[in-house]
Amino acid sequence: LEKLVILKMGGSVITNKRIPMAVNLEALDALSVAVSQASTNLLIVHGGGSFGHYYAKQFGLGTELKAVSREGVAKTRSAMLQLNIIVTKILEKQGVYAYSLPPASLVGFGRVAAHGAELLESIMEGGLVPITYGDVLPNHGRYNILSGDSITRMLALCLKADRVVFTSDVDGLYASGNKLVRSIGIRDKFAIDQPDRGLDVTGGMALKLCEAQEIARNGVDVYFVNGLKPERVIKALKGEIVEGSLIRGTRNAR
Ligand SMILES: Nc1ncnc2c1ncn2[C@@H]1O[C@H](COP(=O)(O)OP(=O)(O)OP(=O)(O)O)[C@@H](O)[C@H]1O
Ligand SMILES: [Mg+2]
Repeated sequence: LEKLVILKMGGSVITNKRIPMAVNLEALDALSVAVSQASTNLLIVHGGGSFGHYYAKQFGLGTELKAVSREGVAKTRSAMLQLNIIVTKILEKQGVYAYSLPPASLVGFGRVAAHGAELLESIMEGGLVPITYGDVLPNHGRYNILSGDSITRMLALCLKADRVVFTSDVDGLYASGNKLVRSIGIRDKFAIDQPDRGLDVTGGMALKLCEAQEIARNGVDVYFVNGLKPERVIKALKGEIVEGSLIRGTRNAR
């Protein structure tokens, strides 16, 4: 497969995290236009925003595997499905034809499914854009949330992506003092205020940074850009210099 770029559409971009079950249509529209201008193979992962996180929080679901309410699992999952359909439809409007896959068809039990890479590559060979999302996954009677950021990491490593672009509602990663960190080392540590001001049950920016650094330690460049600024997303998808934070992929540095 030629060049592959993975785009994480942050829930903080495509939804209004302050209002339960509210899509940020304007942002999603603009982001879809940006995506329609990408010329490489693309795989999209979207987050939960005020859809998934809302119910997950209400019912106490998290990244830790545990016995949880059936109602909570069902409601969190149906909210994510609903958001996925909306995202898929808006992409379609911009001529981006997506092939939607529930995460459970790609990953489970801590790993990418045996046929995961072949499935995704087959879809991209046909010119469609695979899209998946953060979701609740089962593990022998217990459940946990696999965040969109974690799925992004698993798929990036499995597919040997050329580049990963994380979008959120901020310009990138901020160090203390609200200073944007333009270049992040693969092992740099930052004090990240938790919990973030929106709602996030899967670790917010702190987990995103961990996942991003793990991706970069495998030789893949990772960008953090503001998804509310489509022209930045276009640049990052192309691998151009852009306002935001960059973690240069560095191999043999483990
Ligand atoms: N040091 C930091 N630098 C940048 N953002 C930070 C920092 N600390 C906390 N944040 C918060 O992290 C948020 C982005 O992470 P969050 O998980 O909320 O969004 P997301 O990943 O786009 O959403 P989702 O998890 O639904 O996909 C920003 O809105 C910002 O307020
Ligand atoms: Mg998040």
